[in-house]
Amino acid sequence: MTETDERPAPIDFDPIDFDPFDRAHRADPYPWLRRLRERAPIYRNPLGHWLISRHRDVVAVFRDKRFGHGTHLLQQNTFRRPVAGRSRPFIMLDPPEHTRLRSLVNKAFTPRMIDGLEPRIRQIVGELLDRAEARNDVDLMDAFAYSVPVMVISELLGVPRADMESVKELSHVVARGVDPDFQHTPEEMRIRGQAFARFDDYFRGLLEERRQRPQDDLLSGLAAVRESGSALTEAELLTTCILLYVAGHETTMDLIGNGALALMRFPEQRRQLAARPELARSAVEELLRFDPPTQLTRRTALEDVELAGHHIAQGDQVVLMRGAANRDPEVFERPDELDLTRTDNKHVSFDGGIHFCLGAPLARLEGRIAFTELLKRAPDLRLTVAEEELEYRDNLVIRGLATLPVRLRP
Ligand code: HEM
Repeated sequence: MTETDERPAPIDFDPIDFDPFDRAHRADPYPWLRRLRERAPIYRNPLGHWLISRHRDVVAVFRDKRFGHGTHLLQQNTFRRPVAGRSRPFIMLDPPEHTRLRSLVNKAFTPRMIDGLEPRIRQIVGELLDRAEARNDVDLMDAFAYSVPVMVISELLGVPRADMESVKELSHVVARGVDPDFQHTPEEMRIRGQAFARFDDYFRGLLEERRQRPQDDLLSGLAAVRESGSALTEAELLTTCILLYVAGHETTMDLIGNGALALMRFPEQRRQLAARPELARSAVEELLRFDPPTQLTRRTALEDVELAGHHIAQGDQVVLMRGAANRDPEVFERPDELDLTRTDNKHVSFDGGIHFCLGAPLARLEGRIAFTELLKRAPDLRLTVAEEELEYRDNLVIRGLATLPVRLRP
């Protein structure tokens, strides 16, 4: 027997040795994501999901038609199954259904239409900051980060201001509902199903009103598309309304919340933006990169695929780790530093490929106005609690703060 033969058989060593979805990493997932990217950039977790964390692989999957949502492969989906009996929103569909539904909505999201919203967004931001300034100590999530985008998307769609409070809870449940099924209790799954049903009833009522009395809003436009006899079913119309409403503010809320926190953590950067508001464009891109409002997304392999030397079988679930890709040193210099002047910022916070965020121009505009106006009023914005006391919501995918207690002026 040789010396080599006497050695024990190699242990099947799990290269990462931690659970990237663990609630314990919510406040600061980045050291963990770095470990994942460095130790096992294409990692098959014990549930069989492939976690992809290098920028180049994430971008490759976005662009590869062999990855999609694969409605016909749903039985193999152990990540997130659609709610039973519901039509799927187009964010979870493949062509040709995705193309058909997206193009109907896309018509309403022209750059001209978005630019036209600027004065109204400035007014909303100004009024909210007037109120916040009067109190000086506020929860920035509630007073600003949530309120700006919910008011903008509500007006755009035609959700009356009086209803915003009553649909708030439904919207939070749906946003939390995009987390993987294995992170929900059966009770949470039941509540999620109920929230969808109540949202359907709510939008059904509003759409009916718009059919009777059309107004200058997106709901009237969508109701008219359906009336014109195009291939849009009532169920598709309702899921599209919910998608636009929820995607239209739950994410932008975290751009503003996570972004404001980053500006407090990097005071030099904050002062620079306060002094040079013309940096707003690159600042918003950098804040999106640094702490992205949505941490990950999922695709299904529609056929067998070789990805960077790994065999991914048809039906396997691939999880694209945005937070890791956005800090990949292969693409970003000094990735853990916030640099509001960073140029050619190739972050993947709005995705890539055919599902690239439809609302990106609106989110960018809201972000630019929100950060520059906030810093005009509060150049010395600061936390009123210790960083360790900050609380995050349970959400894994649409990740952000539950509250952000701040003082606007010293
Ligand atoms: C900072 C704010 C926002 C972020 C970070 C964001 C991010 C994203 C991402 C990552 C996706 C792709 C998801 C995936 O492939 O799984 C997406 C899709 C989408 N977003 Fe946004 N979003 C934001 C704001 C908005 C706004 C304001 C709207 C307005 C209605 C919107 C509407 C949509 C829609 C409709 C899709 C589906 C596109 C498709 O599947 O073709 N988003 N968003």
